[in-house]
Amino acid sequence: MKPFQIWLSPPFLSGKEKEYIQEAIDSGWISTVGNHIEKFERILSKNLKNYFVIPLNSGTSAIHLALKLLDVKDGDEVICPSLTFVATANPIVYQRANPIFVDCEQESWNLSPEWLEIAIQNRLKRGKKPKAIIIAHLYGNSSKMNEINNIALTYQIPIIEDNAEAFGAKYKNEPLGTLGTLGVLSFNGNKIITTSAGGALICSSENFYSKAKYLAHQAKSPVSYYHHEEVGYNYGMSNLLAAIGIAQLYNLEERIQKKRQIFNRYYEELIKPFNLRYPQEIQSSFSTRWLSAFLLPEDKSPSELIQVLENHQIEARRIWKPLHTQPIYENQPFYGEHYCNYLFERGICLPSGIGLNLEQQSLIIEIVKTFLE
Ligand SMILES: Cc1ncc(COP(=O)(O)O)c(C=O)c1O
Repeated sequence: MKPFQIWLSPPFLSGKEKEYIQEAIDSGWISTVGNHIEKFERILSKNLKNYFVIPLNSGTSAIHLALKLLDVKDGDEVICPSLTFVATANPIVYQRANPIFVDCEQESWNLSPEWLEIAIQNRLKRGKKPKAIIIAHLYGNSSKMNEINNIALTYQIPIIEDNAEAFGAKYKNEPLGTLGTLGVLSFNGNKIITTSAGGALICSSENFYSKAKYLAHQAKSPVSYYHHEEVGYNYGMSNLLAAIGIAQLYNLEERIQKKRQIFNRYYEELIKPFNLRYPQEIQSSFSTRWLSAFLLPEDKSPSELIQVLENHQIEARRIWKPLHTQPIYENQPFYGEHYCNYLFERGICLPSGIGLNLEQQSLIIEIVKTFLE
């Protein structure tokens, strides 16, 4: 591990973690059952329009279960943004189905509704109706939900919202993750709240909820002995990690405000003065600005800036490398004009940790300014 002084988005403790972990240990429930899981589930659900929520061991598991619930199987096609983390697409392949990659749009950097519709029409022409559409709300920013939902409705294709990076964000005042058929959260170490590792599945119906719970716990039939009619998974969250999650949720609003303040300062001191492009908070949406991202001018290299920052022990990252350009997915269909490739070539994410202080951010801004001048 490189010895950074300032990390990109490290875990931030609320101060209540020890108390809740102690409580969980005292209860004796340190496995994948226990009161803390139930409590974490209830609080999450409250934050998510009272939808059914299942805490899991990762966001990736949640995407996999969502695909299972929608009966995605061998040979099916699933639409997926190309600009996202690889975990958005990998579970499609776990199901032996095929990801169909689609470009992003220029405003939010999320799935392009125009290319989405072109992709669906083209797949239909080829005699194959996509079984699901996965969308990802990247860097805390909402996708164009109105347009995407209308398309999904027109062609009657369910939506899985990969909301790993935008927990707490909203569209038309509704929490992201509750706008599709199924939603996904991640609580890994760099997310806005973390359980060290973990995730959750948000279900729009009780049926999905019970089926997902059953699949996440080895698909054990409700009889007194071990009886299995389906292959299940070991995807449940540990009670100890749920205790951390409860403590982390304690100050969610402050976390979001801090992320937004960090972005606003980068905006005022770098993005605006240097006239840089950045992902927009689209109309009627509320972004958490989970990671502050923007594009460098054409004559400046993101890799060089990352090296300069690294020389000061500061961690920065390129934005996601499009999945249709990854060796594992380069033979999959792609619909778009490669705008996602352009973003990858020019984009950078700067440190956006909740614990980032003013002095540290000033240092980052000074270094980036000098690089840009
Ligand atoms: C967009 C996106 N999808 C899915 C995931 C997977 O989540 P997890 O790491 O909890 O499996 C992540 C985070 O790592 C992510 O950023």
